Amino acid sequence: MTVLVTGGAGYIGAHTVRALRSSGRKVVVLDTLERGNREAVIDAELIVGDVADQGLVAKICGDKGVSSVIHFAAYKAVGESMLEPEKYWNNNVASTEKMLDVLTEQRVDKFVFSSSAAVYGTPLSMPVTESDPTKPESVYAETKLAVEKLLGAFSQNTDCRLRSVSLRYFNAAGASKDNRIGEDWSSSQNLVPQVMRALLDKDFKLEIFGNDYPTPDGTGVRDYIHVEDLAVAHVKALDYLESGGETLVCNIGTGSGTSVMQVIDLAEKISRKKVPYRIAARRAGDPISVFADARLAEKKLGWKAARGLPEIIESAYEWHRTHPNGYRRGN
Ligand code: UFG
Repeated sequence: MTVLVTGGAGYIGAHTVRALRSSGRKVVVLDTLERGNREAVIDAELIVGDVADQGLVAKICGDKGVSSVIHFAAYKAVGESMLEPEKYWNNNVASTEKMLDVLTEQRVDKFVFSSSAAVYGTPLSMPVTESDPTKPESVYAETKLAVEKLLGAFSQNTDCRLRSVSLRYFNAAGASKDNRIGEDWSSSQNLVPQVMRALLDKDFKLEIFGNDYPTPDGTGVRDYIHVEDLAVAHVKALDYLESGGETLVCNIGTGSGTSVMQVIDLAEKISRKKVPYRIAARRAGDPISVFADARLAEKKLGWKAARGLPEIIESAYEWHRTHPNGYRRGN
């Protein structure tokens, strides 16, 4: 009974591999290492390869006795997806479909998918619930929604019915408590790594993308979820499928919103340093405010966020402070 984790050398994937290992499961990671880091896969077997390689996926399933899959392998840069859409459709959707064909042939019937709150676009009301309309505003978000739909179709397949949980993540951030895995700022444009960079790299200044939004302090509001909580959500999703749960789409967030300025204020308190920043123009495609209704995850998966913004900022600061070069040598 092995769990195949695709993209397990990436930021969220690597944290999830550790959570699975602590739950006593056997794990095999399949990752191209194009954007992942070998060092992040601490004690699981790593196979370097692509999910679209059907021969390889079949061999792994057969050799390792794979009974379930957690699928992270995908590109995730929203801006890049608008510039190179074909690359995103190909890697995120076509490759996933190829893998799903092999998995059903191999009788693998449990699948956890790394989806995104980006499928909602700019929500009409807050907090966002799973039954709210989806309205992707980027190719990246389109590809996540397309895979959710594909999984809906696979769950109707009467020959091998693949049951799945699609986890719609809100804003993943933070690092592992033992300081071994974090989010390299050189490969992430997200707010928390960029705030850390502003604290630690004297040549860098954070840009705040707009301070004239209709929010209490004018900056954008998001639901920041600790990456270790997110990792646990995957384990709970697998528990749910293992105990016979039906195909499900579920928000994974804390249920509360935090503004960019609140993130900066807390980072300054925790680091006892100033975050150098300047106010820049709004970033195209940024919604004003997005936070989750997280009740379905609690009801169906028995999952609830256990950590808050202080743990996110503290762990991120510690990891970045001790890994100024990310995973590259020379730290
Ligand atoms: N922001 C800045 N400066 C920066 C980076 C971000 O002001 O340098 C602001 C953004 O404008 C936004 C907030 O910080 O208001 C959060 O931005 P992120 O880039 O960290 O995250 P997003 O909400 O844009 O997107 C993230 C993931 C997506 C995912 C989405 C789901 O990057 O992959 O959450 O809600 F789809």
